[in-house]
Amino acid sequence: MRRKLVVGNWKMHGSRAANAELLAALAAARPFAADVAVCVPCVFIGETAAQLAGSDIAWGAQDVSAHAQGAYTGEVSAAMLAEYGCRYAIVGHSERRQYHAESDALVAAKAQAALARAITPIVCVGETLAERDGGRTETVVTRQLGAVIAALGARAAQMVVAYEPVWAIGTGRTATPDQAQAVHAVLRAQLQAAGADAAGVRLLYGGSVKADNAVELFAMPDIDGGLIGGASLKAAEFTVICNAAR
Ligand code: 13P
Repeated sequence: MRRKLVVGNWKMHGSRAANAELLAALAAARPFAADVAVCVPCVFIGETAAQLAGSDIAWGAQDVSAHAQGAYTGEVSAAMLAEYGCRYAIVGHSERRQYHAESDALVAAKAQAALARAITPIVCVGETLAERDGGRTETVVTRQLGAVIAALGARAAQMVVAYEPVWAIGTGRTATPDQAQAVHAVLRAQLQAAGADAAGVRLLYGGSVKADNAVELFAMPDIDGGLIGGASLKAAEFTVICNAAR
């Protein structure tokens, strides 16, 4: 039985004051039946760690460098994140693939770099609207996941995968539970075929998850929780979503 996981992806939102309020509200809403984490902008990781230390809410980053160290201005290494107790690092989010031209190979290298420091990569995959309309959803997501499986080998079982259809991110347009489940089943089968312990890999759904649709999404057999954007910035709504995962 996979324990469900709900992760807030704050994206480029927040301020020291707003974060402190949000994290205090989340801490007060514990305990949750599922694992809960927040992936915050890098500059806030230290304070987030200090505020959540000793609680069962985990924290993480929204990206990680593929390099261990060196002359890579602006990058943050997995070792640095590990020093601040990060349990997770999102890699390959569609916004990074789109706005920062991240390739499948780079995403795979980032997943490897995270795991090398015992940080669980949350590997995002997902098709655009044009790809879905063109009947290419399966081809796209299996290509994206395949690159990571190939790079990680036996360690693929240690990642978390997030299916985030690009057309559902920040649009208010959610994949139906059946649409999401269908893709999750494909991803699970791919992990299985690769010999990864597919039964244990958590597959999250992301894309306009809200308080009023979380229960039905999380009820699907291969949806093991969610990666939540906008709704993770509102303590009350994020709490409802966390409580929908059990
Ligand atoms: P929204 O929940 O705002 O649609 O964002 C989803 C997402 O991209 C999480 O990583």
